[in-house]
Amino acid sequence: MTNLVVRKMPFEFEGCDFIWNPANPGFSVMMNAVTFQAIAFEKYICKAMNAAEKISRKPEITEEIRAFNAQEMVHSQAHRKHAKALVDQYPGLQEALDFCDAEYEKLYAERDLKYHLSYCANIEATFTPLFGNIIEQRELLFTGGDPRISSLFLWHFVEEMEHRASAHVIYNDIVRNPFTRFFKLRSVFGHTKVLAEKIYEVFHENVPESRSYGLGEGMNAIPKPVLKKMRNGILTSQMPWHRPGSAKVPAYFEEWVGRYNAGEDMRFAYSA
Ligand SMILES: [Fe+2]
Ligand SMILES: [Fe+2]
Repeated sequence: MTNLVVRKMPFEFEGCDFIWNPANPGFSVMMNAVTFQAIAFEKYICKAMNAAEKISRKPEITEEIRAFNAQEMVHSQAHRKHAKALVDQYPGLQEALDFCDAEYEKLYAERDLKYHLSYCANIEATFTPLFGNIIEQRELLFTGGDPRISSLFLWHFVEEMEHRASAHVIYNDIVRNPFTRFFKLRSVFGHTKVLAEKIYEVFHENVPESRSYGLGEGMNAIPKPVLKKMRNGILTSQMPWHRPGSAKVPAYFEEWVGRYNAGEDMRFAYSA
């Protein structure tokens, strides 16, 4: 039985600044890029999961697919609102959204379900080391920022930890062979890189304040040993024997879930 919880989070981002954390502009740009890429990526996950559900024969896997799908759909909706608030201010940014959408549509049409499930499993496995470290460094990265945007990312990252095993469990049931996804690493990460580069290019064209911050520079505030630990974690997450479900999550995960369960309005979870 799945233990994923689908939480409706009615975020509002009207009038939010592009550089939503003036104390950390590079990180602001990086998280905006996550928003722009997440919308199309999570839509792609949902399509892959709908296809997987059709061939799933085990009730527990069907249940996992549905719960995973539902969480990603809610994430995509929240990021869509964030992106809309930015596009309202800089209409040229729409080009980046359209590009990502078209690229994922093309990828979905050109490749088979094994590829899509590999893509989901590979990318989702990176999220515990990547977002887990961001969560642990939240004071350095989010302090001084718009609480709505900080709280959007913290919520999303917490739920990525919550469903960190889902894509892997579904992959193992349908594709089975761990080397299938391993041999697709170059293609999968190459695809995400092309999208990230395009997003940054469109940001730089349309938002003058973003121009000093390039791809890969968003986490310069994080101490080097932490970045090294994060990179090693991402590398390990791609090994055929890696089990994302056993990856350690930061203590903040329990804190966030506890506060949500106690009825706190987590749309403003981070207001430091
Ligand atoms: Fe997500
Ligand atoms: Fe996810």
